Parts: sequence; structure tokens; C-alpha cells
Amino acid sequence: MAGKTIVVANWKMNPATMREAKKLFDAERKTAEKSRGSSVVIAPPAIFLRELSSMYRGSKVAFAVQNAHFEAGGAHTGEISLVQAKDARAKYVIVGHAERRAEGETDDDARKKVAAALSLKMTPILCVGESSRTDEGEQYDVVREQLRLGLADVAASSLPRVLLVYEPLWTIGKATAMNPREMHQMAIFIRKCVVESHGEGGRSLKILYGGSVDEKNAAAMLREGDVLGFLVGRASVKADEFAKLLQAIETA
Ligand code: 13P
Repeated sequence: MAGKTIVVANWKMNPATMREAKKLFDAERKTAEKSRGSSVVIAPPAIFLRELSSMYRGSKVAFAVQNAHFEAGGAHTGEISLVQAKDARAKYVIVGHAERRAEGETDDDARKKVAAALSLKMTPILCVGESSRTDEGEQYDVVREQLRLGLADVAASSLPRVLLVYEPLWTIGKATAMNPREMHQMAIFIRKCVVESHGEGGRSLKILYGGSVDEKNAAAMLREGDVLGFLVGRASVKADEFAKLLQAIETA
């Protein structure tokens, strides 16, 4: 396997307490430190971020926020800004997650967040993907549009600083991941779109897959899915499953 597999642990709205978050983080940090094949980014709920990051002195784990506002400050009740997230040591930000899009987050929000993250020298993890598939292939139109709008303010020279996740809503929280061959087709399509919008640099866009990734399907997806890593939900909130996942990646 060339290079390290990027594993983004999206804890979503888990666990319930700071105490459990510390325990989970401690176990996952140890797993990450042992792993030679993976580069681990942990995205805890924002309320746990600063305490976790301030107790961590190592360099094997990087931190992400699951969402943040593009404005630096102001009257946005309930939001946290990218600037605040960066101050709490987040280097990455997940943008346009399918669960947030389902709650009303728009492509225009994604565009602003991606641009704001890049200007703060943070890495945006832009998620795209259709909510459901049709025989007519509408998913391709949906993804093309999400890419066009989400990357509209990204200069071609900044593309290497973006992580792109293909994570359609219908693969999240299921028993199995999507077929790696279908992922491969989608990866080719994504690159084609980005080459059209941003030039040849689009060919080396870093593409990850998300949706029901676990220790059983990760290796095949890495071998055949044309992806450099994963955005992981459930398997990232159980320390033992996370350890098995990194182990499976190691042997891919
Ligand atoms: P699951 O891995 O639990 O399917 O969640 C995927 C996801 O939404 C990661 O962001």
C-alpha cells in the first residue's frame, strides 16, 4: 500500500460524558500509535475537543471538528467558529456531512466553510453523496453539482489541501459498505468532474469513502475502491472495533 490510509473517526454525538470520551480517546490514541499503516484524525463532539487535545502530547493523532461556522464571530447562537475550533487544536473540519445536509446544510454553506478552512490553514473534509440512487443515474448529477459548488472557491493550487469524502446517505448506518467497484466508478467520476473544473490537478484529488466501514470491508475497499482512506462512524466509537479496523487496514 502506497502511503498511509487516512482514517477519520467521526464520533458524531457520542459518547455521553467527558469521562467516556477520555477513555475512548485514550484507547484509540494507543491503537493509532501502534499502527504503521494509518494516519488517524479524531472528530469528537466539539464540547470535548479542547480537553482531549490539551491532554494529548503526541503527534500520531490529529483532531477535527464535525462542523463549524465559516464566520469568525458574531451573532450565531449555538454555533462554534472555525477560528475557535482551530484554537482548540482542530486541524481538520468535516464539511457537508450527509446528516447535516439532511438537516438543511446547503452547498453554499459547504463552499463558504471549505474556503474559510483553507484560509485558516485547516484541512476541509468535504463530504458529497446522493441521498438515494435511481436507475437513471441521478446520483452523478447530484455529486457533480455538490463538487462544483463546494469547491467553487478553491484555487487549483489549494486542491491538494482538501480531503474529499464520498459518503452517500444510503450507505450510512447499514450492515455493509457499498460495493468497492461502484466506489471505484464514482472515484473516476469525481476526478473527471474536478479535472473539468480545476484542471489536471484534479487527478490527484484525495478521495475517501464513508458509510458502514468496518474491519470486514475496509481491506477490499482499499484494494478495489480507488480510495485513500475512510470516514468512520460506528466503528470509531467502540475502541475494540476501531483497533480491529486499523488492524485490517494494516494487512490490506
Ligand atoms: P457509519 O460508519 O456508522 O455507517 O457512519 C458513517 C458516517 O456517517 C461517517 O461520517
